[in-house]
Amino acid sequence: MAKGIPEPPPIGETALRPGTFDGQVVLVTGAGTGLGKAIASEFARLGAAIAILSRKAEHLEAGQAAIEALGARVFTTACDIREPDQIRAAFDAVTEALGLPNVLVNNAAANFPVPAEDMSPNAWRTVVDITLNGTFFCARELARRHLEAGTPASIINVGASYAWTGGPGFAHSAAAKAGVKNMVETLAVEWGPYGIQVNGLVPGLFPHEDMTADIRSNLDRTHDKDPCQPALRVGRPRELGWAATFLASPYGRFISGHTLVVDGANWQRRSMTNPTVVPIREQMGKGPFEAK
Ligand code: HXC
Ligand code: NAP
Repeated sequence: MAKGIPEPPPIGETALRPGTFDGQVVLVTGAGTGLGKAIASEFARLGAAIAILSRKAEHLEAGQAAIEALGARVFTTACDIREPDQIRAAFDAVTEALGLPNVLVNNAAANFPVPAEDMSPNAWRTVVDITLNGTFFCARELARRHLEAGTPASIINVGASYAWTGGPGFAHSAAAKAGVKNMVETLAVEWGPYGIQVNGLVPGLFPHEDMTADIRSNLDRTHDKDPCQPALRVGRPRELGWAATFLASPYGRFISGHTLVVDGANWQRRSMTNPTVVPIREQMGKGPFEAK
């Protein structure tokens, strides 16, 4: 009988040696919730001081509490990554509090399911602005500071597998994530000579308690999540955190320009013939299109 991919080791275990990130500062955007919090926690467990940037005070407080519970140093500051001036000020504050970040994890993103024909221009702009533009602005800010200082760094951009496949119901996010993946390849070449690694990290399906109502309602529509995965289970957030710490560790130094997919093979085609096409409107329980 097929049993799927076994569960990972329990939370709290690390593959890298303790202290791998001692003395390092790791900045994770959107680390007050979900996968960003999980990624930041794994860096903290390995000795890093953590900086968290996001918009909402309650998220910053939750991220701070999670990192403090691990006994690591943490600094949080409000920042909307759509705004380069806010990013510059946030990097100044982080650098003053903890030092210049050695690692940047561009995790913050925006997304909600909507049929493309229903999507308003501002809905498109909002998702692209946060997911693609925000990722570039943060990467640029880190690189400029390291180029000036002559110091190495590591950047990880969190992506999504519909960067390759397209994502029905997510035209904005899929296009933005395709840009994020492509950006990894360009920046890794431009900044490699200065010692800056740039990689992508793509989560498969990783449900977590902080998922927005929009994303959760979309997941709730797919009945059984585990049997829909080739691994017969979804991802555990710590599995993404372990992958991030490896990519930014001294043992992953020669990996650059790569996008690592951590999804139990969920984005590969999984049947001999394709399933019947169901229009996205129907999948989302929406009636016929009406121009408003
Ligand atoms: C249609 C929507 C919408 C929805 C918002 N909009 N939600 N349109 N369906 N469900 C439209 C609004 O009407 C508005 O357009 C425009 O988007 C901007 O909305 P605001 O609420 O003004 O934007 P803002 O306050 O900046 O909030 C951004 C947000 C919000 C993206 C809308 O959801 C957010 O803060 N998200 C952050 C967290 C997040 O998205 N996490 C998901 C990451 S998961 P109009 O025209 O009315 O002005 C992920 C991969 C998951 O990326 C894959 C799982 C399978
Ligand atoms: P999430 O919990 O909704 O986290 C998104 C984070 O981004 C929030 O903490 C939010 O904080 C922050 N953020 C959003 N807009 C921002 C802005 N303008 N400026 C600064 N911060 C902003 O989502 P998640 O599931 O953990 O997703 C994390 C990453 O994984 C994203 O890149 C997502 O695309 C990717 N991903 C997730 C899955 C999954 O199954 N969970 C699958 C594929 C890809 P504030 O609200 O405080 O700003």
